[in-house]
Amino acid sequence: MLRTVNTDHSGDVLSLEFTNGDRARFHAIWLRDNALDSETRAPGNGQCLITLADIPTDIKIAAANIADNCVVLRFSPEDKEVSFPATWLRDNAYDRAEPSLFGHVDAAAITTWNKTQDAPCFDFEQARSDPATRKSWLAAIERFGFAKMINGPTESGALIDVIDLFGYTRETNYGQYFEVRTEVNPTNLAFTGLGLQAHTDNPYRDPVPTLQLLYCLENSAEGGDSIVVDGFRAAERLRESNPEGFNLLAGYPARFEYKGEAGVVLQSRRPMIELSPEGQLIGIRFNNRSCAPIVDVPFDHMAAYYAAYRQLGEFIDDPDMGVSFKLAPGESFIVDNTRVLHARTGYSGEGSRWLQGCYADKDGLLSTLRALEAQVAVAAE
Ligand code: FE2
Repeated sequence: MLRTVNTDHSGDVLSLEFTNGDRARFHAIWLRDNALDSETRAPGNGQCLITLADIPTDIKIAAANIADNCVVLRFSPEDKEVSFPATWLRDNAYDRAEPSLFGHVDAAAITTWNKTQDAPCFDFEQARSDPATRKSWLAAIERFGFAKMINGPTESGALIDVIDLFGYTRETNYGQYFEVRTEVNPTNLAFTGLGLQAHTDNPYRDPVPTLQLLYCLENSAEGGDSIVVDGFRAAERLRESNPEGFNLLAGYPARFEYKGEAGVVLQSRRPMIELSPEGQLIGIRFNNRSCAPIVDVPFDHMAAYYAAYRQLGEFIDDPDMGVSFKLAPGESFIVDNTRVLHARTGYSGEGSRWLQGCYADKDGLLSTLRALEAQVAVAAE
């Protein structure tokens, strides 16, 4: 797999050529920091046992050779020998042109969608008993940012059984889970029969809950359909039609607040469109009910900021964008609350509508997904 290995004159850079002609360069400091020997990385859990301060500032590659499809390096001034498998170097190579990610999603993991998207749908019992189904369900949530589940139990608290399939709830001041039904004196508009504009939940928290589950126990009222909207698609549309406005929503923080109950004052200051350091779309916060006065946008940009905010809302409200469905008892859906907005149509007081909701964390879901992928791959071997 390896054809040649060379170091530059200074010993600062290793250059490899693979047998297929691919080339990759690595820095001495990077290689030393990622050394795979048992003094640098714990053999059991792979955790790093040194800090950067343990590596000499004048670290160099004193010698480099190929042996058994590995690159064997000797570092100076430590006089330390470390072996790197060629496959490991290939998998971890970073010597490539900087991709243009501005305002884009990670295309490998994410597919954006509009109303033509069928709601990914999974059976509760199957997801519980079959790891391959459970893996497909979690992978759908990663890719599309939402998935429905059907044929679940219809007793109060059943939503926790769904969360148990991949992780843990995130408890908040609303409790481990909360009721979504009409109340006479609502403390929150979600608990009335009014329709709700598509939104992400709890942007006033920092960090926001990254997953939300809504679970139906009764739904005989007129209306009350659920609608989900891909916030990344809406952001992409804004970026295409108004790049300056996109930059304003990504570049300045909005403010969000909730203080609807005694003893609770939740506030955050975060952008509506969040980008990674390299410009990739990583989060949307959009919730008209929770907006506090925006005071961090310079006066000269405020009018354009509001125009972009309005435009983003128009894309979100566009009937072309939403996937809608009506939940039956025992049915639920999970949304990635950093990406997918949810809405509901208004419902009348006739009949009853009883949902329960809770939050959970996406890192736990992705952890379970990665472990299931490994498990299912081994089973298939
Ligand atoms: Fe909500």
